[in-house]
Amino acid sequence: MTDASALPLHIGFIMDGNGRWAKARGLARPFGHEAGAKTFEKTVDSCRKLGIRYATFYAFSTENQSRPKDEIDALMALFDRYADDIYRRVKNDELKTYENVRIRFIGDKTYFSESRRKKIADIENLNIDKDIRLTVCIALNYGGRNEIVNAVNGFIAENPGKPLTERDISSRLYAPDVPDPDLIIRTAGEMRLSNFLLWQSAYAEFYSTSVYWPDFSEDDLKKAIDSFMNRTRKFGGISK
Ligand code: FPP
Repeated sequence: MTDASALPLHIGFIMDGNGRWAKARGLARPFGHEAGAKTFEKTVDSCRKLGIRYATFYAFSTENQSRPKDEIDALMALFDRYADDIYRRVKNDELKTYENVRIRFIGDKTYFSESRRKKIADIENLNIDKDIRLTVCIALNYGGRNEIVNAVNGFIAENPGKPLTERDISSRLYAPDVPDPDLIIRTAGEMRLSNFLLWQSAYAEFYSTSVYWPDFSEDDLKKAIDSFMNRTRKFGGISK
């Protein structure tokens, strides 16, 4: 039995409401994603300043593939632009937001073109020689059920006929060394996990705010962290 009086070690972000944010301003949906990408970068900086060690951002789910092609293309073009920009600025030491930050990607990378996979690998290799204060995982073409099925299939292929343990699954997830999230924040008032970190969220605290993702600020992040720190986590046991 542990209470949550310490900072969350790992926060998961379900960045929702980009479309509604754009609509409220009479803009097309891609403008919402554009604004959301800026908030992603600001939130990385806030996490680093506040001493959060791991942050996972849900950028594109396997289910998002059912969106209109135009929107998927706009999201992928936005990702490519950000990826190039982040890579160039980190390499040239221009971008303090990513100082001592390592970026990783979780999800099914086989969906991406060779050039996008290369981009992803280049970004994952940035800062590996540095003292890392914050690990950022970007969930791209990610689905929690898919992740579990892949882990199980991987185990069966290597150990035919053997019973499987929780550890066997945990060790075959996309980022097995990243601790489970303590806190999941979802914006835009929704209260669903939507296939995000299904296995890892077994004991995560959930926090929902009505703020649309593009408007999510450092103050909103602090409110979520305060709420987390005032909760009692029981992990199936009883309160102390
Ligand atoms: C959900 O809002 C948001 C997404 C499907 C995409 C999130 C992506 C970003 C914020 C860009 C991230 C960029 C980088 C570089 C990591 P929605 O479109 O479902 O909004 P709605 O529910 O209001 O329609």
